[in-house]
Amino acid sequence: MSIKRDIPVITTVAEMHAWVANQRSLGHTIGCIPTMGYLHDGHASLIREASARHQSVVISIFVNPTQFGPSEDFERYPRDLDRDLSVVAEADGSIVFAPTVDEMYPNGPQSTIHVDGVTEMLEGALRPTHFDGVATVVSLLFEAMLPDEAFFGQKDLQQTLVIRRMVESSPIAAVRRVKITIMPTQREADGLARSSRNVYLTKEERALAPAIHQALIAAVNAITSGERSREVLEALMLRKLQTVDRFTIDYAVAVDAQTLLPKETYDQDDTVALCIAARIGRTRLIDNELIGVTG
Ligand code: PAF
Repeated sequence: MSIKRDIPVITTVAEMHAWVANQRSLGHTIGCIPTMGYLHDGHASLIREASARHQSVVISIFVNPTQFGPSEDFERYPRDLDRDLSVVAEADGSIVFAPTVDEMYPNGPQSTIHVDGVTEMLEGALRPTHFDGVATVVSLLFEAMLPDEAFFGQKDLQQTLVIRRMVESSPIAAVRRVKITIMPTQREADGLARSSRNVYLTKEERALAPAIHQALIAAVNAITSGERSREVLEALMLRKLQTVDRFTIDYAVAVDAQTLLPKETYDQDDTVALCIAARIGRTRLIDNELIGVTG
């Protein structure tokens, strides 16, 4: 174990289990925040919430190779452990778990968890192996950190549904169920969702990127004003996005928030998930808003 800026960094599962046993012997409950590092204010708000609920809070930092496709950004994904440790210290986390790839996959990635039902559409359709990688690593991280509660951000909406379903359907989880808590997306002042990948944006791209959130808000406002048609909502978001010709739009959809499946019209008590994925330059951005239909 090495100590940096007062936040201990654990790199092995065995040390992690020893730390957990020690916290439990003190009567502590354990919150965890799984991350890929390059922490931002969105992560900090998850750490603060976990610290308000648990005496011990572990943040995992692991850029998980199995959730990146062959032409994705695994190699260039931003990494800066010293910076991350300052964020953890400021947000009142207890410890960082930063394993190597060999520690997490000692024999290579030989077995995979596949979650059915919420993985086929949206991100899953465009990144076919992504959610197998996410479900597998989150399950391994839970087995390493043995938390009572795990915190995730709503920005990765589909990921949160996959993880919930993975936990609810796993026999291991039935014995030792991890509570999954989803916290609201943290945004920059101009509405851009905070993301580690925002660092890829050039100055010009960064100025254009908030158009994604503006398109989502236009659809939220339309629903609030009584619009119920999926087609109209999706056309509205597309029109807003198309004002930025630098965007390549992967999807702009209005789907049911539980199933991520489209309905032709949304009815009272439905929750609509408005979801956008768009690329600008070398950066792929995703964002969403949830809105309940009333009346
Ligand atoms: O959201 C992320 O940062 C990652 O997908 C997660 C959940 C840490 C798994 O690698």
